[in-house]
Amino acid sequence: MPVLLELRGVTAGYGAGEVLHGVDLTLDQGEVLCLIGPNGAGKSTVLRVVSGLLRTGRGRVLLRGEPLDRLSPRERLLRGIVQVPQERSLFPAMTVWDNLLMGGYLLDGTRSGRREVRRRADALAERFPLLAERRRASAGSLSGGEQKQVELARALLLEPALMLLDEPSIGLEPRARRAVFDTVGALAADGRTILLVEQNARSGLAAADRGAVLESGRVRLTGSGAELLADPRVARLYLGAGGEPQAQQPDPHSRER
Ligand SMILES: Nc1ncnc2c1ncn2[C@@H]1O[C@H](COP(=O)(O)OP(=O)(O)OP(=O)(O)O)[C@@H](O)[C@H]1O
Ligand SMILES: [Mg+2]
Repeated sequence: MPVLLELRGVTAGYGAGEVLHGVDLTLDQGEVLCLIGPNGAGKSTVLRVVSGLLRTGRGRVLLRGEPLDRLSPRERLLRGIVQVPQERSLFPAMTVWDNLLMGGYLLDGTRSGRREVRRRADALAERFPLLAERRRASAGSLSGGEQKQVELARALLLEPALMLLDEPSIGLEPRARRAVFDTVGALAADGRTILLVEQNARSGLAAADRGAVLESGRVRLTGSGAELLADPRVARLYLGAGGEPQAQQPDPHSRER
């Protein structure tokens, strides 16, 4: 499969503080890549430089070989890069259905655009029964897990070329967490290209074709999801009891890329 997304030597930070110190990553079309790493490693920052919420310092971000670095978040959205952020992002006072339709606001300018948005929303409601069942409920009245499903559906409304999912399972109870990974698995089976950030390394890597370990703003290890799950360094640092990450110092013997 051709390469969809490539990060080459990307640096980025907030103000004077550099957080990413030269990140290299590639993501093939149709692939699910799971990025794991300790709190503060820069995982969300990687997603922000891809979606354009944060500017790249040095290095480049390329989509199908085309540099994105000068494009605004809106222009990247129009190219099909959709981010589902780590924190809750629905409009709580709006209904579930209106939140879903918000995913299509970029297409909404014309009558045919509006018709297309409604067609896609109806199709998504078949796939996510919750959307129809709770259509008129305010989004804020849904459980965290239900809200995450609506956020995923809203992202799908744009039929994205690339989905950036930032810790979709965080803070959810086990059943809702499983539902998130089931959805990711179904999207993967559909051939969606997904860059998934997960603290829940075991489930994240199991759902992914490939994994990458980010530590202190650098990619330290990459491999297939299965390879990383079997790697003793990954097991020791990230696959502790319950699959929750352990905040420990990076292993100095980790293979550098
Ligand atoms: N808006 C911001 N302003 C200043 N510093 C920030 C900002 N966002 C993140 N940082 C800092 O950048 C570093 C990387 O943060 P980032 O959110 O990318 O980490 P992360 O790997 O996603 O962590 P977590 O697992 O906790 O979500 C951290 O030291 C963090 O404090
Ligand atoms: Mg984060």
